[in-house]
Amino acid sequence: MKNHLEQLRTQTLETIAKAKTVQELEALEAQLLGKKGELTTLLKGIKDLTVEEKQVVGKMTNELKKDVEAALLCRSEELRSSQYDHLKDQFFDTSLPGTRPHPGRLHPLTKFIREIEDTFMALNFTVAEGPEIEDDYHNFSALNIPEDHPARDMQDTLWAKHIPYLLRTHTSPVQIRYMESHEPPIRIICPGRVFRKDDVDATHSPMFHQFEGLMVDKTTNLTHLKGILTIALRRLIHPDLELRFRSSFFPFVEPGLEVDVTCVLCAGKGCSVCKQSGWLEMLGCGMVHPNVLKSAGLDPNVYQGFAFGAGIERLLMIKHKINDIRLFYENDPRFLEQFPLV
Ligand code: PHE
Repeated sequence: MKNHLEQLRTQTLETIAKAKTVQELEALEAQLLGKKGELTTLLKGIKDLTVEEKQVVGKMTNELKKDVEAALLCRSEELRSSQYDHLKDQFFDTSLPGTRPHPGRLHPLTKFIREIEDTFMALNFTVAEGPEIEDDYHNFSALNIPEDHPARDMQDTLWAKHIPYLLRTHTSPVQIRYMESHEPPIRIICPGRVFRKDDVDATHSPMFHQFEGLMVDKTTNLTHLKGILTIALRRLIHPDLELRFRSSFFPFVEPGLEVDVTCVLCAGKGCSVCKQSGWLEMLGCGMVHPNVLKSAGLDPNVYQGFAFGAGIERLLMIKHKINDIRLFYENDPRFLEQFPLV
């Protein structure tokens, strides 16, 4: 019996030391010390021994159990600490930032159009829309631009081939459509796409966005135009913006005006962008021409109003000091990511 125990001890300790994985060790433990384990059975048998046998064999068996437990624990620690050995030479910097997924976001133009709508809605304007494919009448004739009028040369038009339609060259036809179907008082803005036969460069694109503004009532006048544009542009571009109204010509307004704003790059001090003038051209506007009111079915002796039309890309370019309009259409994430997510 003594010999058997000695043999068992040597064998068991050797097998434990040779165990290669934690799982192997766990199986071994069950085999030795589990309910029906080899050692458990031996320990259970002690009670059947004679007193003398108990003294020797019992003691030895108990010692063996203790040693086996210690050996199991020791080997298990060895195995656990070495299971990541193969990673030792792979340095892993836990302070490195992870790779983030690129979440989708609204295009800066879409976002700005919403800001424009919010700004004018707060001033009691509603948002109106018109078709991008227009007829000659709404794009030109009703806007006091007759067929042989030189003003038609001002905009290079994209005409449809076999039908009498064109891609609208400005958002002004929406003025006509809205007045045809609504009674004053009218307060609308109409953002949307417009098209011109322009070659692409840093400031031109055959497609870009404009927003039209129209306010018509019995006493609407230039001070309303000035007040509303000042409030809106300060909110949309910069709170310290100054506006300068210069007389200009558009066939559909009389008087016609152009609005300049303080150059945001030099704060009005003069730089290469504003050609040292301190001012940047921003939009066209004026009092709706009586012929335009008449075309839309309104009596110019009763109603008067103002209109303005602005390029949305141009506004955003001024606001964010963007020097190339093409950036808006290329969808380069490096450009888009510079705008806030929401
Ligand atoms: N429709 C003009 C343009 O596209 C802008 C404008 C609108 C000017 C309304 C005056 C009044 O250039």
